[in-house]
Amino acid sequence: PRPILLTRHGESRDNVRGRIGGDTVLSEAGELYAKKLANFVEKRLKSERAASIWTSTLQRTILTASPIAGFPKIQWRALDEINAGVCDGMTYEEIKKNMPEEYESRKKDKLRYRYPRGESYLDVIQRLEPVIVELERQRAPVVVISHQAVLRALYAYFADRPLKEIPHIEVPLHTIIEIQMGVSGVQEKRYKLMD
Ligand code: F6P
Repeated sequence: PRPILLTRHGESRDNVRGRIGGDTVLSEAGELYAKKLANFVEKRLKSERAASIWTSTLQRTILTASPIAGFPKIQWRALDEINAGVCDGMTYEEIKKNMPEEYESRKKDKLRYRYPRGESYLDVIQRLEPVIVELERQRAPVVVISHQAVLRALYAYFADRPLKEIPHIEVPLHTIIEIQMGVSGVQEKRYKLMD
């Protein structure tokens, strides 16, 4: 069995301010996580010469991967965070106040709700298909450093969780979800590297 390690990027400046989307760099805590993650990955995948690190094209995942030495890194646009369209850069409070109808429709059906000029969870699930095909083909371990909505969808695929649960799955920051695919099915471990 070979592991797939899923993790969100280290805390970003936008995470600290509660702003969604964007393309900011890491906070101090986020930078610390990047170092701890590098330590963990280098130990865990020490003898795995063919392993690779996959990130999105956004700075916060690339910076989270940057301290990891010894493995090739691949950027996928398909691993970018859900596109919040006109709401990109806003806080949930601002959306609620300035665009109450949008806020309510998302609350009612988070899976199908599509941000104006942006994406829905269903859109994200669809664009992840080539990533999943490639993950299934790989024989070596892969570390996927991505974002909350994207990782909910990826995790649900491997853990076989129903579609309607996807937007609500907990994928906390600074935590590695290790998935092992063996003959007897899928096993999962979580490593919380910091608070
Ligand atoms: O807040 C971090 C974040 O990754 C945002 O960039 C993104 O819009 C959001 O989480 C996705 O989570 P939810 O679908 O619960 O809003």
